[in-house]
Order: sequence, then structure tokens, then C-alpha cells
Amino acid sequence: MVVPEDMAATQDTVAPEAAVAPGTVATVVAPMRRRHLRGVVAIERDANPRPWSQRLFAGELRMPTSRLYLVALQDHRVVGYAGLMTTLDEGHVTNVAVHRDHRRQHVATMLLLVLMRRAVERGVVDMTLEVRTSNAAARELYRRFGFAPGGVRKGYYQDTGEDALIMWAHGIDQSDQADRLAGLEAALPVPLVDLTEGVDLLAAARADADGTGADETGTDDVTETD
Ligand SMILES: CC(C)(COP(=O)(O)OP(=O)(O)OC[C@H]1O[C@@H](n2cnc3c(N)ncnc32)[C@H](O)[C@@H]1OP(=O)(O)O)[C@@H](O)C(=O)NCCC(=O)NCCS
Repeated sequence: MVVPEDMAATQDTVAPEAAVAPGTVATVVAPMRRRHLRGVVAIERDANPRPWSQRLFAGELRMPTSRLYLVALQDHRVVGYAGLMTTLDEGHVTNVAVHRDHRRQHVATMLLLVLMRRAVERGVVDMTLEVRTSNAAARELYRRFGFAPGGVRKGYYQDTGEDALIMWAHGIDQSDQADRLAGLEAALPVPLVDLTEGVDLLAAARADADGTGADETGTDDVTETD
């Protein structure tokens, strides 16, 4: 069975060079795996006042039927990640973050593009998320993907007591949403290299969970630190 990392090992070196102008570092969107967690948590600690632990992310990766986690990689380094929890036809975005040195380079846009497309393949029709009311950057990002305010959770963020704005994107399986995503992808200044397309993500995640999908070195770069 071909697992996504095996594809990444090939495509990281071939596809981006073929598609991206010289001097430009390609951004690759791939399934999150255990060996990415150190990089993920480093970003998480900087981006989130109440950061998820490595153990928590690892637990999420052990639930592949109801979770979908992606990383954005540049030169094999994690520069961003996004996650989704699914229940029947509903998807709940659990987190999106980009390394501060790589923001405003369309990394989150690429992650959400792939997350939404894979979500639709899993039968998700409506997608929701919470965002701090003060987080103008994220709100604008989500608005571009068709999310609209749907309510407020009072005092949701315990660190500051700030309210969460609940946003919804309904009917993401419809053609107008596919057109929206195509428009966002067409506007990217660099091609999106999507290593999740056509991959059996569930099988790959299970292989990773039971160790048969270990990386090229045969090891997993994970230390439970919390
Ligand atoms: C929010 C976040 C994920 C955006 O990541 P990013 O890779 O910089 O986003 P993109 O480059 O794809 O931006 C897409 C669009 O979102 C909007 N946007 C992104 N950052 C913005 C900012 N600082 N101010 C205003 N608009 C912004 C813009 O419309 C942008 O398009 P443009 O650059 O063509 O104008 C990133 O700022 C981040 O990690 N923040 C900390 C964690 C966080 O707040 N996560 C969201 C939790 S709900």
C-alpha cells in the first residue's frame, strides 16, 4: 500500500520543482502524521494562548474516522496546520495556525482549500468553527471561504474571557462552494501542491497509528512532553 509520506518523499522533490518558479519554496499540504507533531506544537505554543499539547494532537490522530488533520510543509518543515472533527454531515474546524514567519503567504488558504475538499469527500455538508471576536485576520480568512457569523459564545476563551464568534459555511458540497474554492486556488500566486488528493487518508492514518506507516527512517519523531 502506498502511504502519503511515500508520495511526499517523491513529490516533495519532483512536483514542486516542476511547478514553482526558481527561487520559490513550494508549499505542500499533506496529512498530519506523528512525526510532524513537534513542529505543529512549536507553532501551536506561539499561536495559541491556551495551546493544545502534543499528547492532545496525538490523540486526535488516533481517531481518523472522525478527524482530519493536515500540515503545510516547506522544505519538509511544518509551517502550518489545520484540523477538522466530523460528526455525520457536520464538520467542526478545531484549529488553524501558521508559523508567524510564514503568515500572509497563503498558507492558511491552502490548508483550508484542502480541508474543505477532503471534508466534502467525507460527506460533510455544513462546516462550523469558533473564532475570537477580536481575530480580524482569521475572520477575514474564513469569510473568504464562505463562513458567515451564526452566533456568539459568551466568554468562551478562558484566558481573556473573550467571546467566540461562531461561524458557519452551509452547503459546502454544492457547486457554488466548489467554484469558490476553485477561484481561491486560481488566485494563488504559487501552485498548491496537494498530497492528500486521491489518497486513502483513513488507511494511511491507521498505518501511522499502528506503526506500519513509519517515516522513511522507520522512526517517529514524537516525544510525549506534557
Ligand atoms: C489566521 C492565520 C491562520 C492566517 O494565516 P495566513 O497563512 O497568514 O493566511 P493567508 O495568507 O492564507 O491569508 C488569507 C487571507 O486572510 C486575510 N488575512 C490573513 N491575515 C490577515 C491579517 N493579519 N490582517 C488582515 N487580513 C488577514 C487576508 O484577506 C488574506 O488574504 P491576502 O493576504 O490576499 O489579503 C494566521 O494569522 C495565524 O496563524 N494566526 C494565529 C492563530 C489563529 O488566530 N488561528 C485562527 C484561530 S480561529
